[in-house]
Amino acid sequence: MSDINTETSLIAPVPLLEAQNISHEFDYKLFSNINLSLHEKQTIAIIGTSGSGKSTFLNILSSLLKPNSGNVRYDNSDLYAIKKRELLNIRREDFGIIFQAHYLFRGFSAQENLNIATLLSSNNVDEGLLKALKIDFVMKQDVGELSGGQQQRLSIARVMTKHPKIIFADEPTGNLDKQTANEVMNILFDYVHENDAGMILVTHEDELAMQCDKVYKLVDQQLQEIK
Ligand SMILES: Nc1ncnc2c1ncn2[C@@H]1O[C@H](COP(=O)(O)OP(=O)(O)OP(=O)(O)O)[C@@H](O)[C@H]1O
Ligand SMILES: [Mg+2]
Repeated sequence: MSDINTETSLIAPVPLLEAQNISHEFDYKLFSNINLSLHEKQTIAIIGTSGSGKSTFLNILSSLLKPNSGNVRYDNSDLYAIKKRELLNIRREDFGIIFQAHYLFRGFSAQENLNIATLLSSNNVDEGLLKALKIDFVMKQDVGELSGGQQQRLSIARVMTKHPKIIFADEPTGNLDKQTANEVMNILFDYVHENDAGMILVTHEDELAMQCDKVYKLVDQQLQEIK
């Protein structure tokens, strides 16, 4: 019996998400043949200068942009080879994408914007989460009346309401003061650890990046391992 256990423990766990040999270019080559693996409970930060391709890489990882070459594997599927419907299901149910520019529905209240997430995922809005994000008291307001930071936290609440398996976050705390940013990031880190999820975070704040398990810098079309 013990032999079997030993053997099992030697097998490397399958990554949650695996990007293989990814290359992409728009007007100029952004990256060429880069690889990345994300495991359960792991957080990875991607840093790099403006225009180096961080958001583009995150879009590729999160099912939104097919790369010029290479593949992204999730749950035994190659994201860009499966049927559109399957891809939409993964995006809707398993992936939580926090955009650099957050897309809230103007003309609707904060609560209505959150209800969309519950409709799509059949999860309820977690009052505790809204309190932790300090937006519980603005839920009746139109999103157009919320401060930039409140809108950002609302879009984070909307993503977390889905209970995603992977959070993809592009500068999620860009509009927040340092203390609020730390609080929000701690909520995201706790979520990942408590739910066997994973997170890929794009940021230009080195201090925040270093709180992740791994840090890569996108430079000279490659991912340089910083941590
Ligand atoms: N859809 C697109 N069509 C054409 N060019 C694009 C597109 N998306 C991004 N680019 C270009 O690719 C380059 C990298 O953009 P990207 O948004 O990935 O950079 P970034 O590293 O996230 O920068 P920042 O730190 O400023 O957010 C830029 O030159 C940008 O203009
Ligand atoms: Mg960007």
